[in-house]
Amino acid sequence: MSKETVLVAEHLNAGYGSLVIQNDLNFSIKQGEVFIIMGGSGCGKSTLLRHLIGLQPPLAGKIVYKGQDYWSNNESQRALLQQNFGVLYQNGALWGSMTLLQNICLPIETWRPHVSKAERIELAQLKLSLVGLTGCADLYPSQLSGGMRKRAALARALALDPHMLFFDEPSAGLDPLSAAALDELILQLRDSLGASIILVTHELPSIYTVADSCLFLDNKTRTQIALGSLDDLLNHGPDEVRSFLRRGKSSAVLEKIL
Ligand SMILES: Nc1ncnc2c1ncn2[C@@H]1O[C@H](COP(=O)(O)OP(=O)(O)O)[C@@H](O)[C@H]1O
Ligand SMILES: [Mg+2]
Repeated sequence: MSKETVLVAEHLNAGYGSLVIQNDLNFSIKQGEVFIIMGGSGCGKSTLLRHLIGLQPPLAGKIVYKGQDYWSNNESQRALLQQNFGVLYQNGALWGSMTLLQNICLPIETWRPHVSKAERIELAQLKLSLVGLTGCADLYPSQLSGGMRKRAALARALALDPHMLFFDEPSAGLDPLSAAALDELILQLRDSLGASIILVTHELPSIYTVADSCLFLDNKTRTQIALGSLDDLLNHGPDEVRSFLRRGKSSAVLEKIL
């Protein structure tokens, strides 16, 4: 059965004020898939993500989320839709003065005021167990390793049971083992929660492990130059996309992966 489309970008121009960073982006994201946004440094990946998560409007075009034109909604309708989004920011900022449990309880307390304290704590403990941090509820962010801090930030992003999870370069600053563990966790979350995961990354190990669909933003032409499965991009993508995806990999390794 084909999966439901949850987000559609139509003729989107991404940028700031009168500065267009990417032109005419067109793609759709399905429920329960990992959608990778890739491209060289400075091509506009984070900018596009800011539009998609509702932090700032695109310069042109539409973002349709579950049939609703996000930016033509009023602020309170947008706030309601935003509750379906979980975001893991590049620096994974947690509140340093709060324990992990308090960090995760905060969005629940803010957005679900009817949930009792006991239920809130139970929900927060569940999120911690989902990311492999059972038993860490009373620790402060400063007491965690980099990899654990990312997991804790992820637990907080999961607090409101989002349908869509957005990650901006989540493995930046992690050692390869912690980065690989995070990739595994992303796949587990996709499969256990059925959430769509939108992942900005240029890390090849992540791309090869988690990608269902990929969008490639080009620095030179300032638009998308490839959209499809990893297999499509590797076999039929333009030269710059294929060399981006094959950098540092021998053909024997590529044959094993694909
Ligand atoms: N607030 C801003 N105002 C104007 N230009 C910005 C702003 N933030 C980033 N940029 C510019 O937008 C371009 C794309 O940045 P970004 O989306 O962060 O790229 P990426 O995430 O792909 O590395 C860069 O040239 C950057 O300098
Ligand atoms: Mg970025």
